[in-house]
Amino acid sequence: MSKIIQTSALLAALVATVAGHTAVKTFEANGVSYPGYYQGSKVDPGNKSPAWWTNQGWGYAPVYGSSLNAADMIAHIDASPSPYTVEAPAGKNVSFTWFHEGTCGGDETGWDCSHHGWTATYLAPCNGDCKNVDKTTLEFFKIHQSALIDYPSGRYSEGSQPEAYTGYWGTDAIFYDNDGKQSVKIPSAIPNGNYVLRTEVMSIHNNGAIGNRQFWPQAFNIQVTGGDDSASMPAGVKATDLYKATDALLTFDLYWHVAGWTDDLVPGSNLAACTSSSSSKARRSHPRQFSS
Ligand SMILES: *[C@@H]1O[C@H](CO)[C@@H](O)[C@H](O)[C@H]1NC(C)=O
Repeated sequence: MSKIIQTSALLAALVATVAGHTAVKTFEANGVSYPGYYQGSKVDPGNKSPAWWTNQGWGYAPVYGSSLNAADMIAHIDASPSPYTVEAPAGKNVSFTWFHEGTCGGDETGWDCSHHGWTATYLAPCNGDCKNVDKTTLEFFKIHQSALIDYPSGRYSEGSQPEAYTGYWGTDAIFYDNDGKQSVKIPSAIPNGNYVLRTEVMSIHNNGAIGNRQFWPQAFNIQVTGGDDSASMPAGVKATDLYKATDALLTFDLYWHVAGWTDDLVPGSNLAACTSSSSSKARRSHPRQFSS
């Protein structure tokens, strides 16, 4: 068993050196597509995109788990608000298309086959024009999440024993079943106004210290219209307080764990009550005995 773990860890380390990285390439709201922002220097590209500016660079670098409680977790490295805000009607979907080209195990660039992790999307009210917001004051409520879903047959259930299956994660659904696209519904029962929409993909493929975990948070300025001004604003959490080094999914050993264990709840906070699916997701834990 220890040999299996060592081999897996070694493999993960090797894969990490050629790791695929990502960014939102296209954001769609109200039927209009906008480019993501992934330049290495923060210069207004003049594209009127609501995507926040970052110093993520051309290598699509992640924010590492060592920065869990640092400002880079808000909207990626050295982020500042876009000067632009776009309309996003309440009750309608927006979508994020993440960078990934080629096929798993082949000519893949961007996200990589070795990566597995959750996706989560949040909103925070700006209380004014989002271009002027102090990002450290933003309080985010969760509107969408997907983590460790299942262990379907195929590459998610490969390996010598079920304890070593990587499982099928929210990010596998995005990159391998939906061409890199994630759709998220803007809740209908939230007040109209300006919000920062924060989405992220993350990966725990590098086992070991929390500092090896990789996050790609991205933010966009939206103006919610057609909402419900009589609704109260859901309570939020600062992005720097969302995750803890002790969270079960952050300490989860991707390559050796209780067989069949699933958890579709991203840590940090519960789905806000205004999301229609808030009651349909439940934590499941049903370890099974496999004969080997
Ligand atoms: C809208 O987004 C939700 C997730 O919040 C998803 O379940 C639904 O399928 C999406 N609808 C469309 C038409 O893409």
